[in-house]
Amino acid sequence: MNAVILSVAYGHPVTSDDDPPVALAEQCMDDFSRAARPGAFLVDVISAEVRSPGWFPGAGFQRQAAFWRKRLRRFIHEPMGTAKKNLISNATSHYDYFSLESLLETVTSKEEEETLKWSAVNIHAGGADTSGVALSNVYLAMTVNSDAQQKAQAEFDRIIGQDRLLSFEDRKNLLYANAIPKEVLR
Ligand code: HEM
Repeated sequence: MNAVILSVAYGHPVTSDDDPPVALAEQCMDDFSRAARPGAFLVDVISAEVRSPGWFPGAGFQRQAAFWRKRLRRFIHEPMGTAKKNLISNATSHYDYFSLESLLETVTSKEEEETLKWSAVNIHAGGADTSGVALSNVYLAMTVNSDAQQKAQAEFDRIIGQDRLLSFEDRKNLLYANAIPKEVLR
């Protein structure tokens, strides 16, 4: 799923599991989860800690925060840097990706480029884990509810048949199959 989102956001082709932008995204999402865990740091309950020097007992969070900040900034800047390089060297042949199309057609200033960078990272950070987990849950739900899976399969067979792949046009006719992800998200 990370590969799909990276492609949508930056036109970045993911070739392996240890692709650098994928690994960086996963590290940053992990950092975020650790930072957001309630009570993970003393500073969550004693706000005066914010003003304490880095060497003060319990102020190790400042070093941790600086490390995570550095990584987050790489997460924001590096994929767009790569996208721009690919665009300049013509390494990316398709321009119908969010950031590439915007770079080519709408961005006219450094400020707009900065906004685009943050928008792209929002797509990446907001879409990767959420959609991946939702999809994994669909597979899990189908595995443990084989009657629902069979009903969905019967609908696919009836609407699409065996001779072609499905298209977006089919979606309005796939009522049961459409209800499955909705039920999983509910
Ligand atoms: C199954 C997939 C997804 C789930 C479960 C999910 C869940 C959520 C939730 C619960 C919120 C907070 C809403 C609120 O503040 O009330 C949110 C916000 C957001 N999501 Fe998602 N999301 C998903 C997919 C995506 C995707 C694919 C993108 C980007 C392409 C995305 C981008 C965002 C953004 C930008 C916000 C912030 C919106 C705002 O602050 O107004 N999400 N999402």
